[in-house]
Amino acid sequence: MSKNILVLPGDGIGQEIVTGAVKVLACLRDDFGLDIEMDEALIGGAAYDAAGHPLPQATIDLAKEADAVLLGAVGGPKWEPLDISVRPEKGLLGIRKELGLFANLRPAILYPQLAGASTLKPEVVSGLDIMIVRELTGGIYFGQPRGIRELENGEKEGFNTLVYRESEVDRIVRVAMDIAMKRNKRLCSVDKANVLECTEMWRDVATKVGADYPEVALSHMYVDNAAMQLVRAPKQFDVMVTTNMFGDILSDCASMLTGSIGMLPSASLDEHGKGMYEPIHGSAPDISGKGVANPLATILSVAMMLRYSLNESAMADQVEKAVNSALDQGLRTPDIYSEGTEKVGTEAMGDAVVKALREG
Ligand code: NAD
Ligand code: IPM
Ligand code: MN
Repeated sequence: MSKNILVLPGDGIGQEIVTGAVKVLACLRDDFGLDIEMDEALIGGAAYDAAGHPLPQATIDLAKEADAVLLGAVGGPKWEPLDISVRPEKGLLGIRKELGLFANLRPAILYPQLAGASTLKPEVVSGLDIMIVRELTGGIYFGQPRGIRELENGEKEGFNTLVYRESEVDRIVRVAMDIAMKRNKRLCSVDKANVLECTEMWRDVATKVGADYPEVALSHMYVDNAAMQLVRAPKQFDVMVTTNMFGDILSDCASMLTGSIGMLPSASLDEHGKGMYEPIHGSAPDISGKGVANPLATILSVAMMLRYSLNESAMADQVEKAVNSALDQGLRTPDIYSEGTEKVGTEAMGDAVVKALREG
């Protein structure tokens, strides 16, 4: 039976970057026999404009029925004045929660052709291959109480709550451990256990889970040090596991090790392997509409979809090989451009990957 893929382009560069990824999926369907059907729906600001809500019920229903979801990006200055409850970002947080996508895998891999595109010295980043496992449906993003209240003196006070249950920590650390077992068997759990009770508990749970994985070398690091170490000597890391907010920040940081945030894909998985796939970057309002956004993070997210949700790891390899080939040809969107290479736009980059895929 054919698998159903729901495509959610979203806002800003979302539509531009999703186009190349959809072409890759269509190529796999037409030339490689991948049995899929694709459907499209609204999310984010585009959904608010059309339907009055960033996550319409119709989108939730389609996403629940789909075998996998491909998302572009949401948000933008146009919707910033809206109440936070209907801002585009709420649509993204809502779909993650609705689908139970608690495990967010963000691989930071340096393509060797881009060693010169990183802002770090080539020897610091060459051979880089880190997997950041970010908890995605809990923590301060979802904790109650939250809000802005007025104090007696008329001053306002904003508040959010960092909260995790042991079971939530246990399951995300197990995901990270299972990944570490298939890699170099090193897991670094990142917390702020010296200050925050919630992450003191996180550390205890991680240690307990670690006892079930005697082959994995588990270490713990405070998040401030982890941010510094990522820039100082990133290759010390194999797999990292951390909270929702720390993972958000550390993955943007790690993306620059690979040359650009436009290179980092992600998979957001539930308990059963159902997933949503998206680049880790946002809607990039500063370059939106110009046709220059890097589509590779989104195309590499398709590779993750093939691997994690569609059970087509050989096709995933083919897609990654095609990305490699486009880079080998010297093609670069502006974010990864360096002297001696050829600057191309979003569409040309996407088409080059499709061509390389088709030609094997
Ligand atoms: P951003 O990731 O959109 O952009 C940060 C910087 O990276 C910008 O200079 C942008 O041009 C650049 N960039 C991002 N993606 C790129 C690509 N594919 N190719 C080349 N350059 C790229 O982050 P921001 O500016 O902080 O946020 C903009 C909007 O996006 C906000 O509304 C934010 O809430 C939203 N956002 C959405 C997601 C998502 O949908 N998953 C993620 C992050 C931010
Ligand atoms: C991301 C984004 C989102 C997050 C925002 C847009 C809600 O930054 O996917 O990394 O913080 O999770
Ligand atoms: Mn982010």
